[in-house]
Amino acid sequence: MEPTRILTGITPSGTPHLGNYVGAIRPAIQMSHRSDAQCFYFLSDYHALIKCKDPERVNTSSREIIASWMALGLDPDRVTLYRQSDIHETPELTWILQCVTPKGLMNRAHAYKAAVDKNTQEKDSDPDRNINVGLFCYPVLMAADILIFNAKYVPVGKDQKQHLEMARDIAESFNRLYGETFILPEAMIDEKIPLLQGTDGRKMSKSYDNVLPIFLAEKDFRKRIMRITTNSLGPDEPKDPDTCTLFAMYSAFATPEEVATMRERYAQGISWGTMKTELFDYLNAHLEAPRKRYKELMDDPGYIEATLLHGAEKAREYTVPLLEKVRHAVGIRKI
Ligand code: TRP
Repeated sequence: MEPTRILTGITPSGTPHLGNYVGAIRPAIQMSHRSDAQCFYFLSDYHALIKCKDPERVNTSSREIIASWMALGLDPDRVTLYRQSDIHETPELTWILQCVTPKGLMNRAHAYKAAVDKNTQEKDSDPDRNINVGLFCYPVLMAADILIFNAKYVPVGKDQKQHLEMARDIAESFNRLYGETFILPEAMIDEKIPLLQGTDGRKMSKSYDNVLPIFLAEKDFRKRIMRITTNSLGPDEPKDPDTCTLFAMYSAFATPEEVATMRERYAQGISWGTMKTELFDYLNAHLEAPRKRYKELMDDPGYIEATLLHGAEKAREYTVPLLEKVRHAVGIRKI
């Protein structure tokens, strides 16, 4: 049986944190070991430009993300690992898809609507103030990322569900107009994957400034853990594990037996100081070897670059013929 094509993109606009690891990196690495899956993972650097106007940040983040994924165990030989901007077929397909995408569909996109709502609430006379066309057309670029590989499953967070529905709509419009060309992709949303809380107890997200970067130096990593917000219950007072950020972080890494034992110790009233120290020791033991590898990779940008270029070469074995087919289908062909 042909393996199923699975594809996902990571936008390089920040430093990878523990929430990224648990929510996206770890499941993607696990998926890469399945023999029934053919995985395509890429840096969506064109997407980063929509929000991030700091060239150094886009570049540094790209390097950090690839170094992180590889340090945490992604083997680039098992997957196709590439950079969106190396796949020249993607922007061309984006244009062609834009020409079959109703503008009204984009008007309904959550990200665009949220930006308009914000302007309207601020009693701004222009609802489109500070909204670039890139943000407006973002779902079409994302559709092109997926359709150019005819990927079937797309592992994403819940916030991306609507974009996948739009990618299907766009693929259907194209197929209806020009004949069967694209597989209709599906979002792959795993409800079992924990949503990690940040150091202040809200969802871990760079927009809240509450993240725990995966590869902080050991000393800083310890400091951040010690600063995680807890309640004021004293030592020996029983504590509720289910509302506790420390427990959630521990559970995201520990075995079910270890989690059960820790739950017991919460009932017995483990002190916050002890729990923080144990959490640090536990996570640090997991991260020590990858941290070393991360540093080596970060110090060798030439190797990362070569890996991405090699990935792009593999990727274009799929995208070049598909774009040729699309061009032919729409009438862009030899006279
Ligand atoms: N938009 C996604 C995000 O912000 C990243 C992304 C870009 C993506 N293109 C994609 C994800 C294609 C899946 C498939 O998380």
